[in-house]
Amino acid sequence: MTNSLHGRTILLIISGGIAAYKSLDLIRRLREVGARVRCVLTQAGAEFVTPLSVAALSEEPVFTDLFALSDGQAMAHIRLSRESDLVLVAPATANLIGKMAHGLADDLASAVLLANDKPLMIAPAMNGAMWSHPAVQANVATLRQRGVAVIGPGKGLMACGEEGEGRMVEVAAIVEAVTAHFAVSGPLAGKRVLVTSGPTYEPLDPVRFLGNRSSGKQGHAIAAALALSGAETILVTGPVALPDVSGVRTIHVESAREMLAACEAALPCDIAVCAAAVADWRAADTASGKLKKGTGAPRLDLVENPDILATLAQSCPRRPRLVIGFAAETESVHDNAKSKLQRKGCDWLVANQVGTDKVFGKDDNQVTLLRRNAQDEVTADPWPSQSKTDVARRLTEEVVAFFNHSP
Ligand code: CTP
Repeated sequence: MTNSLHGRTILLIISGGIAAYKSLDLIRRLREVGARVRCVLTQAGAEFVTPLSVAALSEEPVFTDLFALSDGQAMAHIRLSRESDLVLVAPATANLIGKMAHGLADDLASAVLLANDKPLMIAPAMNGAMWSHPAVQANVATLRQRGVAVIGPGKGLMACGEEGEGRMVEVAAIVEAVTAHFAVSGPLAGKRVLVTSGPTYEPLDPVRFLGNRSSGKQGHAIAAALALSGAETILVTGPVALPDVSGVRTIHVESAREMLAACEAALPCDIAVCAAAVADWRAADTASGKLKKGTGAPRLDLVENPDILATLAQSCPRRPRLVIGFAAETESVHDNAKSKLQRKGCDWLVANQVGTDKVFGKDDNQVTLLRRNAQDEVTADPWPSQSKTDVARRLTEEVVAFFNHSP
């Protein structure tokens, strides 16, 4: 469960109950398991916890005002739910529950909830008599019927001194409920996958680098497909213009050496897919100041970068069970790919022909999947030209089949 909410954005709505003090800890715990937490604080909530504490703990601006046009808060009631993966109301007071059940929207929190199109969880917190009141019970039943998940409330001594049911459940129970909501089931559930994607940039001086044309589209699509199949997915990517993939822990790097360090830190894992176009060479020395014209063209001494795929494939005893490489070839695709598969020691290799008008940056890809068996024989399976998303899906199906046959 350590990083189970990586890539997830939780919108936390804090309404006005004494349990709001626990929401501060809730922000910390959700962030500890990787979530980004954005908060809406009701006016009553702000009587119990200050916007400053909420902002400091979430490291995000706090949203309070339905009518604010400044500070990037305009139309926040629409944007906030659109930009989240889950909306969580903790504590949820009897008043806010009533407004939700009846579709009232007279402040930012209730307007966000009415405009919400994301899964919704509430952690009620109120006096026991209020909780058992038929009006509250009817409102909660209405919300449940609409698919709202209700966490708690718990029993025990309340701030008012009375005993009963109505306490907000402990923070750990809320974090567990949120984590369980995102725990994807699927054929690769329980498997941990590392994917590399994009190019690497090798600095020449503070403003220039050696790089290549990789867009990261194929690697990112593979990470998305594997995550959808339930795998805990870590994506190590070089500089790309793509958004992070939802549900995937993304680590951004620049150079090959940074990519290797991030990959080694992600071990152990069950599967590694090296789709990055790693720069083969870097400058032996990086100039500390900008290289200037006028003294003739600079001489570039290059040294070879570490081979990430080969390192992972030979990383005994932490070698992933299934190591998949890519081969970007401009000619003799099959022969070059076959010897690359054997040379690097990976299990499968996805080979494709590249050129300035092919593959890099495009949405389609025609690949051949080469597999090496225990006897070191290589078989080749050419796939039809298809979208990079479909290549990713098919590769994921092959991975699932591999683990089904040899669990
Ligand atoms: N790769 C890697 N680290 C490197 C170079 C390549 O992990 N330093 C990986 C790529 O991610 C890919 C595979 O190795 O999965 C093959 O990459 P490719 O660029 O096709 O091969 P090269 O290693 O550059 O070999 P060649 O120069 O013979 O094409």
